[in-house]
Amino acid sequence: MPARTGCDRLDTPENPVDQLPARGAMRVLILSASPLASQSVTFHLAERLAGSLFPQAEREVIHLHEVNLPACDGQLDVIKEGENLTGAMSGLGAVYSAMRRADVVVFASPVHNFTVSALLKNFIDLMVFESHRPSFIGKPAVLVATAMGAGQDRLFAYLRDVVHSWGFRVVGCLGAAASMLDEPWYEARLQGAIGQLAGRVATRIADQRPRVGLRDVVAFNIWRLVVEINRENTPIDHEYWSRRGWLSAHYYYPCRTWPPARWIARLIATAVRHQIIGRKLKPVT
Ligand SMILES: Cc1cc2nc3c(=O)[nH]c(=O)nc-3n(C[C@H](O)[C@H](O)[C@H](O)COP(=O)(O)O)c2cc1C
Repeated sequence: MPARTGCDRLDTPENPVDQLPARGAMRVLILSASPLASQSVTFHLAERLAGSLFPQAEREVIHLHEVNLPACDGQLDVIKEGENLTGAMSGLGAVYSAMRRADVVVFASPVHNFTVSALLKNFIDLMVFESHRPSFIGKPAVLVATAMGAGQDRLFAYLRDVVHSWGFRVVGCLGAAASMLDEPWYEARLQGAIGQLAGRVATRIADQRPRVGLRDVVAFNIWRLVVEINRENTPIDHEYWSRRGWLSAHYYYPCRTWPPARWIARLIATAVRHQIIGRKLKPVT
C-alpha cells in the first residue's frame, strides 16, 4: 500500500453538501473495525443497514483487521509536517482514499470495554492530522455498533465527536444487542428501527443546511482556538483554516443552529483562551 502524502488530499469543495450525487449513484464505504472481520456481527448489521438505507448504492467494504496498519507511534510530527506524511502514516493511504471516494461512510465497531475496538482507536490515532485539517466536509456518516449488553451509547458519543472533527456529519446511528439478535421480538424491533432510520437518513442527507447542535459548534470553536493559539508552531493548520474561511465562520459548512449556540460557543472559547493565555489552567484532579 503506498504511503499517503499530502498530495493525496483532494481540495474541499466550498459547500460539499451541494456536491452529493443523486441517491442512486451513491458509493457507500463500510469501514468495519471488528477483529472478527467477515465473521463480525457488527459488520453484518452494517451491511444490512446499508442495504436498506442505500439499496442502489455501490458498496465497498474495508475490514481494518485486514489492512496492515502500523500502531500509532505517539509522534505528533504528522501534524506539523503535513505535506510530508511518512512513517506512521504508511498503510493509511488505501483506507483514506476509499473514504474520500465514498459519498457515505458507515463506521462499524463492536463495543469493547464501553468504547470502540482497539483497531478503530488506532485508526483514529493515525488520523490525528484530520482533526487539525478536516477534509470530509459535510460528508454523511452512519455509525453502527453492537455489544453483548451495553455501551453503544458511550461509543456513539465518542465516535460522533471524532468524525465530526474530521468534517463528517452523522446522519444516523444504529446500536444493537448481539445477545438478543436471535430473539424474534428483538428482531422485529430492530427491523422497525432500520425502517425508521431509512426515512430519517434520506431526509438528513438531502438537507442543504443541516442542523448542528451546540456541542459541535463549541467543538468547532475550540478547534479554531487551538489553531489560532498554535499559529507559530503549526502555521500549516492556520493557513488551512484561513484558506477555508473558518477563522471567521460559525462551522465547517453552512448549517442551521440554535441561534444562541454560536454566541455561547464563542463565549466558551473566549473563556478557555483567557485561561490558557492568562496562565490560569489548573491540573485536573
Ligand atoms: C475485548 C472485548 C470487550 C468487550 N466489551 C464489551 C462491553 O463493554 N460491553 C458489552 O456489552 N459487550 C462487550 N463485549 C462484547 C462485544 O461487544 C459483542 O460480542 C459484539 O457484538 C461483538 O461484535 P463483533 O462480532 O462485531 O466483534 C466485548 C467483547 C470483547 C471481545
